[in-house]
Amino acid sequence: MSCVHAGGGDLEDGEVLAAQTGMMYGEYLQLDKVLSAQRLVSAQDNRPVHDEHLFIITHQAYELWFKQIIYELDSVRAKFNSQDLTLDESQSLEILRRMNRIVLILKLLVDQVMILETMTPLDFMDFRNYLSPASGFQSLQFRLLENKLGVRQEHRVKYNQQYSRVFGDDDEAMRAIERSEQEPSLSQLVQQWLERTPGLEVEGFNFWGKYRHAVQQLLREQHETILAETSEAMRRHKLTDLDKKKEVFDSIFDPSVHAALVSRGERRFSHRAMQGAIMITFYRDEPRFSQPHQLLMLLMDIDSLITKWRYNHLIMVQRMIGSAQLGTGGSSGYQYLRSTLSDRYKVFLDLFNLSTFLIPRDFIPPLSRHMKSTLSISQDTGAQNGDDSDPSPDAVSDRSV
Ligand code: HEM
Repeated sequence: MSCVHAGGGDLEDGEVLAAQTGMMYGEYLQLDKVLSAQRLVSAQDNRPVHDEHLFIITHQAYELWFKQIIYELDSVRAKFNSQDLTLDESQSLEILRRMNRIVLILKLLVDQVMILETMTPLDFMDFRNYLSPASGFQSLQFRLLENKLGVRQEHRVKYNQQYSRVFGDDDEAMRAIERSEQEPSLSQLVQQWLERTPGLEVEGFNFWGKYRHAVQQLLREQHETILAETSEAMRRHKLTDLDKKKEVFDSIFDPSVHAALVSRGERRFSHRAMQGAIMITFYRDEPRFSQPHQLLMLLMDIDSLITKWRYNHLIMVQRMIGSAQLGTGGSSGYQYLRSTLSDRYKVFLDLFNLSTFLIPRDFIPPLSRHMKSTLSISQDTGAQNGDDSDPSPDAVSDRSV
């Protein structure tokens, strides 16, 4: 209690202190509102259902945590979106801290499903009829969260593309949704940041040119090894595999193939953002890429935890209402929710698929002396303190995390 007693003062009497802190605690947290917000609809017929209390509290706890996640997410987006294109180290640390907080909250939300699963389907049936048409489908904060992360309208399954059906009568909600679709999402901001990864400059270190060369060399060596294979059948099998591998690499080297994949929704990131992400993944042990690499990991954590939440929610829904009943929100229920588990809702899908483009360590292009020096020191001193004696210092873009 005393933790929210900000004022303090020289109170001598313990009882006075207790009385004051007690009053302030409740006032500060507005517990009168929060704790009187559990209205059991089943009580209206004088037949209150015990488990409805848990049902309400669980949903409210979720909504409060959604609010905190949105709060953190907005602040992170604002930092990325600041006019100043560089993020100094204190900002990037703060971004990492807040993203990590979001990840921890999401972990809690994934596990929280278990508590509601202590309710049995029969108990749920006792009050489910009172709920219609209310449904988690109408959670405004959940939609805002998805949009702010970067779930795009065209990637959603058809049933949840039309907000007007759900929020049509609520102008404020509709405006909030519109804003969340128009403002730059975390995904867009992260892409812009990745596009400025130092070392991508063609006139400088030219990572992409070097990487492409390394891949060609790798594929050539693998081709020669296969040709030395004595069994004809094995040779043919391995050559087919190698052709597939080449095709996969072509999809990243040929910007038009990449663009086609983006337009089909199979890839999300811009071509240059992919280059930045691959570069950071290869050189993550260099001090200046350590934080960027951690950030990429956290972005994947967010996607995978939301997918895990969707899955846990789906299993709970099946346990409570089976797979044939419609949802109270009017969807096909289980079937609809199952369709939201697909990759279309993964905002950072490309980061998961980066492993496709990794090459053995021996083939990773070595850093030039200048690049090594740039990545070994922090941003504010980095570019200026590069080794001037290097005969061909690489042009390096101006970005910290
Ligand atoms: C007994 C427990 C629950 C059942 C049976 C249930 C059932 C459903 C169903 C059937 C849907 C599909 C939409 C529709 O209603 O037609 C849905 C959507 C949803 N529910 Fe639940 N739900 C439960 C608990 C929760 C909890 C605790 C939350 C936490 C906030 C939640 C959040 C959501 C959200 C955000 C959606 C929309 C998902 C999307 O469109 O991607 N649900 N729920």
